[in-house]
Amino acid sequence: MLNMPTVLFDSPVRGFSNVTDRDAYAMEQSSGANHYDRLQVVVRTAKGSWITDNSGKRYLDCLAAYSAANLGHHHPKVVNAIMKALAGNYASVISNVVYTDPLALFLSKTAGFVPQLGPRFGSNGNKVMPKNGGVESVETAIKMARYYGWKRKNIPDGKQEIIVFDNNFHGRMITVISFSSKPKYREGFGPLTPGFVSVEFGNLDAVKTAITKNTCGILVEPMQGEGGMNIPPPGFLKGLRKIADDNDLLLMLDEIQVGLGRTGKNFCFEHENIVPDGLILGKALSGGLIPLSVFVTNAKLMDIAFNKGSDGSTFGGYPLACVAGVAALEVLQEEQLAKESEIKGKKLKQVIMKIADQSKHVKEVRGKGLFIGIEVENKDAMMFCRKLLDLGIIVNDSHGHTIRISPPLNISNDETDFLIKGLEKVFLS
Ligand SMILES: Cc1ncc(COP(=O)(O)O)c(C=O)c1O
Repeated sequence: MLNMPTVLFDSPVRGFSNVTDRDAYAMEQSSGANHYDRLQVVVRTAKGSWITDNSGKRYLDCLAAYSAANLGHHHPKVVNAIMKALAGNYASVISNVVYTDPLALFLSKTAGFVPQLGPRFGSNGNKVMPKNGGVESVETAIKMARYYGWKRKNIPDGKQEIIVFDNNFHGRMITVISFSSKPKYREGFGPLTPGFVSVEFGNLDAVKTAITKNTCGILVEPMQGEGGMNIPPPGFLKGLRKIADDNDLLLMLDEIQVGLGRTGKNFCFEHENIVPDGLILGKALSGGLIPLSVFVTNAKLMDIAFNKGSDGSTFGGYPLACVAGVAALEVLQEEQLAKESEIKGKKLKQVIMKIADQSKHVKEVRGKGLFIGIEVENKDAMMFCRKLLDLGIIVNDSHGHTIRISPPLNISNDETDFLIKGLEKVFLS
């Protein structure tokens, strides 16, 4: 039975409708796929770092939609850009047989914002393939690596192999669940897609051993979000870069969750001063308002793999998403959110480590910037997430055993103090 929270049924309407919380639970249960274990709250509005339920209770959002809400909710600059586009009749999906200026601006802004990728292929600039949800751009990166292996390394088509990592998470479509370490993500969904070899995250020797004459690429999250907030040992990305160079492999980084300022740098790869050959971004790319993701690579590589008709997407790069994307990238730069994340994350992690020292519940604290994991001794992170929810703080678990702390990057000092007080209550009592 559902544990229904008390709601004020006669409160003024907040948000979209006057559907009661009770009805919202019932409607989702009867009409929706049962594919999420949800916290018992029906969110009505969201602004900045806060979300509000029907009774007016506010919750500090320290999950930020798994980094999609890096700018906070309804950032005014992104909202204004979207509203202007709707009012000005330049927001709808037109079709990719014509040019639109929002797409042109978004592509050139994104291509220029990312450092030159794949420099061993020349200083050709970057090119960008726009898509919708993140997993679509992961698949684009996989297509790129396979095509490169076939066209440039003479690997027979159908034999290409890509090295991936244990506890990876790249989304939920057939190709990427095919190499997930979690049986639950794969079981019963076969036939699965071949061509992936999974090795231990952080283990460079395992990568070297996995290389065969058919290996064309390496696909990796530079820090694992869903896999337990895992930070690889220092030198891992540098080592991958060297292995990729030595063996002519494309190094593809999935920064959907950890890019765009989350770990204290615009891009996670900047922590080790390397550049990948391909980069996947999503989630926060449009300010958390419209699904938008990209695969970015050296212009030469993009032109090798994709030509007219070989890829596409109805909504990928449609004007409304691009308008939001341009505004969101401007906010990231103007508000220096990567720097904010670095400074605030450092302080917050220090405080959390002090709390952990005094708590019998915490096994380990790890993270960079505002991407912080608290691994709990009893392996039941959700138990602590529910206690934090009662205190007005929303977080969730990663891999069952770790609490993921990833608030909006512009969280204020007062809001951070509110989070800290909640953590003290939960871990020190
Ligand atoms: C690292 C990473 N890759 C890919 C995805 C999939 O993105 P989407 O859910 O937008 O398809 C996610 C989503 O959480 C992710 O964290």
